[in-house]
Amino acid sequence: MIQDNQNVVWHSHLITRALREKLHGHKGMALWFTGLSGSGKSTIAGEVEKELYQMGVSSYLLDGDNLRHGLCQDLSFTNHDRKENIRRVSEVVRLMVDAGLVVLTALISPYRAERQLVRKVLPIECFLEVFVDTPLSICELRDPKGLYKKARRGDLQNFTGIHTEYQAPLQPDIRLDGTHKLSSLTHQVLDLLRVCKIITY
Ligand code: ADX
Repeated sequence: MIQDNQNVVWHSHLITRALREKLHGHKGMALWFTGLSGSGKSTIAGEVEKELYQMGVSSYLLDGDNLRHGLCQDLSFTNHDRKENIRRVSEVVRLMVDAGLVVLTALISPYRAERQLVRKVLPIECFLEVFVDTPLSICELRDPKGLYKKARRGDLQNFTGIHTEYQAPLQPDIRLDGTHKLSSLTHQVLDLLRVCKIITY
């Protein structure tokens, strides 16, 4: 529950994002990957992070599954809890971008309204929505964790794409065709980061 915090005063610190970015040698940025379970979000984000690491870019990958082992372990997959999941992660991303990092997130984040909230939490120039567009039929064929099978059997509730809706972004900053080769998708994301002047050629 959000508390009344009118007696809590924001403290501006001496070291700013701009100074921290100078230290890193690049700007802070959030790359918010969204797509169905099995669409390839984590895999693509992982490859992009590997390339960034090799370029000396300070980055961090926040993976939805991993976060649900810690920060978000108390949350289920109801609409209410998914909303809280996205809210928490967006606040973490805000801090990490303020620290001057390139942050990659891989969460289904199925609802437009919640993704819109994330956009609002971050400085306008620091948010890129990456839509990993992989048809449900392909995700279900891949089924890397066997969760679609469980969902079809009725052993899993509220499974995105089966019982609950996935709302595809209408105007993502980049749309990746998740059926294409991983290397090509990775380079498309890196090219976007070049256009945004986060990395250089
Ligand atoms: S989100 O909807 O709240 O953004 P998140 O990305 O954190 O989801 O977690 C999704 C991961 O949890 C999936 O990759 C999948 O492995 C697992 N999972 C378990 N139950 C569900 C479910 N009911 N719906 C979707 N994913 C589920």
